Amino acid sequence: MEFNAVELIELKRDGGGLPGEAIAWLIDSYTDGEVPDYQMAALLMAIFHHGLDEAELGAWTEAMLHSGEVMDLSGIGLPKVDKHSTGGVGDKVSIPLAPIVAACGVAVPMMSGRGLGHTGGTLDKLESIPGYTTGLEPERFRSILSEHGVVLAGQSEAMVPADREIYSLRDATATVPSIPLIASSIMSKKLAEDLDGLLLDVKQGSGAFMEDIEEARRLAKTMVGIGSTHGVEVVAFITAMDQPLGREVGNANEVRESIEVLRGEGPADLTELTLTFAEAMLQLGGVPGGLDRVMEAVESGAAVDKFRGLVAAHGGDPAVIEQPERLPRARHSHTIEASRAGYVHRCDARTIGIASTRMGAGRQRKEDGIDHGVGITLHAKIGDQVAQGEALATVAFNDPDLFESQHDRLASAWSIGEDKTDVPKLIVERVS
Ligand code: URA
Repeated sequence: MEFNAVELIELKRDGGGLPGEAIAWLIDSYTDGEVPDYQMAALLMAIFHHGLDEAELGAWTEAMLHSGEVMDLSGIGLPKVDKHSTGGVGDKVSIPLAPIVAACGVAVPMMSGRGLGHTGGTLDKLESIPGYTTGLEPERFRSILSEHGVVLAGQSEAMVPADREIYSLRDATATVPSIPLIASSIMSKKLAEDLDGLLLDVKQGSGAFMEDIEEARRLAKTMVGIGSTHGVEVVAFITAMDQPLGREVGNANEVRESIEVLRGEGPADLTELTLTFAEAMLQLGGVPGGLDRVMEAVESGAAVDKFRGLVAAHGGDPAVIEQPERLPRARHSHTIEASRAGYVHRCDARTIGIASTRMGAGRQRKEDGIDHGVGITLHAKIGDQVAQGEALATVAFNDPDLFESQHDRLASAWSIGEDKTDVPKLIVERVS
């Protein structure tokens, strides 16, 4: 059926509901280049202001999902469960989580993203392993999954092309922070992976795209709802992102820390989240054994072996696992020191994420490369006691001018007070 784009924009602008066929037409026509950017941009702004009701959201997600190829993983023979995070600072959970879960008998066909804004991306982190290729043809994706039970790659160009186009347009038109647009963007990509279950980590706090708990809760519930209408069981966790996760920020630094988690030697917060998610993914996949099985995979070395096989299958150098010093490391380092004695009250994720990105660990423009060796090692986080002059962080950098430009910003990420503070709760709530 033919619709008129101007009439549909008017309808949404005035708070009306878009019929399902009109949404399917709009997404198809936009993907084919028949509806121009300016009309889609106007519609996105109308959606930003008026939202989408349940029926519209279902139709929008469905149209995005079918705008390209959908994976067929029916031959895998194991339950298939993926995990997605809405993005944070130091959030490297996917890297240890995927092999741990695969070592327990759940297939993990993980399609990840690149860094966005001040947050890091799993693909950029993995590419700090010499030789690791994240761009796979669907056939290779399937064959790695079938041989190793896990694959950690980017999404193929042929899948959900509507999201790629619409996402760039949203980025350029200030329409990213809209719950229905975020939920449909994430879920259309995940539903195209032919999953049995999905675990979502909705980050909330200064270093997340959702700072407010109510917003995070609405986003989590919206995505769980989309999963349920598509027959995919979704469990969402809302987790704190006011300070970075773990002690390492930056691409190679985060791979190094992920290997520690796989060996059972990671920091407490990162380990807690990884193991909790692994347990939930086993449950989603219908695999018994719970946390004991997860712990066994780590303690027996099965999880680290799985990661070794995965890295080699992607063309990466598995020797980095025994010798993490083979990972890139920046040439210079500098210590940020505590200006006074006391307890750390604040270790701000957003500030640290921005500084890390600007020093080269992330991109300023889409086409920029990444400096994989740039990173920040945190020595003091919220609740820790520090003496005056004690190291708060060690910064590894290659470009002294870039480091100078970020030094004061980085030092401002910590607040130190006299009173003892508690370590903040990491897992805020579970939504299912
Ligand atoms: N991540 C996505 O994939 N889409 C969004 O809209 C926001 C974050």
